[in-house]
Amino acid sequence: MKSKINNFSLAYDIAGEGLPLLFIHGYPLGRSLWESQMSDLSRSVQTISPDLRGHGESEAVFSQYSIESLADDCIQLLDNLEITQPIIICGLSMGGYVAFALYRKYRSRIAGLILTATRAAPDTPEGKVNRKKAIDLALSEGPKAIANSMLPKMFAPATYVNNPSLVKKIHNMMESTSVQGIIGALNAMKNRPDSTHLLKEINVPVLIIHGNQDQLIPVTEAQEMQLLIANSEIVTLENAGHLPNLEQSTLFNQALKQFLTRF
Ligand code: MLT
Repeated sequence: MKSKINNFSLAYDIAGEGLPLLFIHGYPLGRSLWESQMSDLSRSVQTISPDLRGHGESEAVFSQYSIESLADDCIQLLDNLEITQPIIICGLSMGGYVAFALYRKYRSRIAGLILTATRAAPDTPEGKVNRKKAIDLALSEGPKAIANSMLPKMFAPATYVNNPSLVKKIHNMMESTSVQGIIGALNAMKNRPDSTHLLKEINVPVLIIHGNQDQLIPVTEAQEMQLLIANSEIVTLENAGHLPNLEQSTLFNQALKQFLTRF
């Protein structure tokens, strides 16, 4: 489905009824990341998953924007759908950065958070340099080069070797992201604020899920986040890397269902 958000068209899926659960994908992916969660969880709650601007089937926006802009897009989508009741947000990696931005700006609309494969800390100086290199790569060689440079780090080593169909699915998802979407997201991530101080202010239930073999965001960062959020629990999934919802989808979905019993 498509929804008009300010000056661009945003693609999304919606299914089920009841408590709204908004899934926000990571970079440079799309809403199909959440297929397994959407089909399983929409039997008990209302699931909504957008393609962030410039990703998947959503149009790109040709001006510089921030992670907060992506959060604003999500709220505009909810408004268009007339969803006013507080929602649960499940954000993966960059989707987690968007979840923090949503909590910072729209906390009355949030009933709970599921933070997966993400971090509260901002980019390090070295990380910012790498964003610039990735922007140059996207401009000179396109999304395929970005996909090739990222793919091995997205999974636990065993997933990468033993699950070629999953690796291909993620490759295709990355390759279909527009250059503008890649650049927009890289700039937004590079400039995102530190959310560490926010952790102590979060007063809704929080579930943190992290793969124990995440090569992009070490599991220790998730453990540190958990210590700072009062009403939080952490589930560490074995044999999962940066995409635990795909690499260990059954256990991931179980953890979500267990968490949702709290609402
Ligand atoms: C993501 O998976 O969304 C990104 O790798 C996060 C990041 O680069 O900081």
